[in-house]
Amino acid sequence: MENFEFVSPTHFVFGRGAEEQVGAKLAERGARRVLLHYGGRSAVESGLIGRVKASLDAAGVACVELGGVRPNPEVGLVRQGVALCKEHGIDWVLAVGGGSVIDSAKAIAVGAHYAGDVWDFFETKQPTDDVLPIAVVLTIPAAGSEASKNAVVSNDALQMKSGYPNNAQRPKLAFMNPELTFTLPEYQTAAGITDMFCHLLERFFDDVGAVPVTDNLNLSLMKTVRAEAPRVMVEPDNYDARANIMWAGMLCHQGLAGAGRHEDWATHGLEHELSALFPHITHGAGLACMFPAWMEYVHGENPTRFAFYGREVFGLAPTGDVDADALSAIDETRAFFASLGMPTTLAELGVGEGDIEKMIPTLRANKGEPFGSFKKLTMDDAREIYRLAL
Ligand code: NZQ
Ligand code: ZN
Repeated sequence: MENFEFVSPTHFVFGRGAEEQVGAKLAERGARRVLLHYGGRSAVESGLIGRVKASLDAAGVACVELGGVRPNPEVGLVRQGVALCKEHGIDWVLAVGGGSVIDSAKAIAVGAHYAGDVWDFFETKQPTDDVLPIAVVLTIPAAGSEASKNAVVSNDALQMKSGYPNNAQRPKLAFMNPELTFTLPEYQTAAGITDMFCHLLERFFDDVGAVPVTDNLNLSLMKTVRAEAPRVMVEPDNYDARANIMWAGMLCHQGLAGAGRHEDWATHGLEHELSALFPHITHGAGLACMFPAWMEYVHGENPTRFAFYGREVFGLAPTGDVDADALSAIDETRAFFASLGMPTTLAELGVGEGDIEKMIPTLRANKGEPFGSFKKLTMDDAREIYRLAL
């Protein structure tokens, strides 16, 4: 078991009506003027933004609004948010939305007291503790950003999408009402489930041996996500299924499912280049194509681990041929994503052979070379994995 540090400062308010407590809980913590940050349409149209504003108002917390965060959020809007924080003396950032809104909010919170350009943090990964506190009303279980230490932001001018890890930007408050997810389009529900499952895979497959306390937690989450997924796809307003998926999405990525392991994260690196080059690609859909391809490419490093995963998560009976068992586990993974309606090839997302080379320089800049843990990958390996995913 490898050494690790784990910080989890998030206070969760989970269940029906959770968002009604936003104002009171923020006021208790001394918030006076918040930046209310949200996405394109859904939270306004559902009336959620109106309810959150009413809750802030009732608690005497003032707010300045900044909507319009797009999926795969862009640094331009982050800069606007930073300017608003400086102009209005904002003391908390309140994100209402999914991973894109929360990550944009985290970047704003990091930039709020910084004299330079907020993109510096994404480029240099420089640490800072001078971060505005963040609260979140989650509307889509997927990225796990409601408790994670990461923010992922695109810079269209540079055609880059980069992550910034910092425990100081983990949200301090997360309001999670599963009913808010009833309105999710099928595709977003499916992409979210794929993403959370991949957060477990990234942690399960690395170069560390067994860590039973962590691995069993991880496997239990994989089994839960796999069992609940068809329920939410068939019955989008099944409260218990939505609730299990929502809480699982947080547990998949706040860190415990990888404690004591190195974790891999090569596939997320490969996917981030796709959604940097093609902002219309939903992160989970990109992962659905990339993860089975990565698995096929690397499984020979440790087929026993893959066979173990296949047995535990998909109930595959051992055949006596560990390599065949590993390949069956990979087939099951691909079939699971396909059963949710996710694409299985990059071609379905409009990506062609000619796009691969465009992603290599930024992949190298973001991940370095070699990258990954289960198998150390070069840029030539990355090219091969993209090709396998085509
Ligand atoms: O903009 P609106 O109109 O709100 O629509 C959103 C958006 O189009 C819609 N939506 C959200 N909640 C809804 C809803 N529609 C109806 N009803 C609701 N309740 O869903 C769409 C996708 O939203 P988005 O926030 O982009 O989804 P997600 O949570 O999957 O976030 C994806 C982003 O998170 C990053 C990804 O790279 C991507 O940029 N990630 C962040 C991580 C982190 N911070 O730790 C880790 C992840 O691995 C990931 O990289
Ligand atoms: Zn992800």
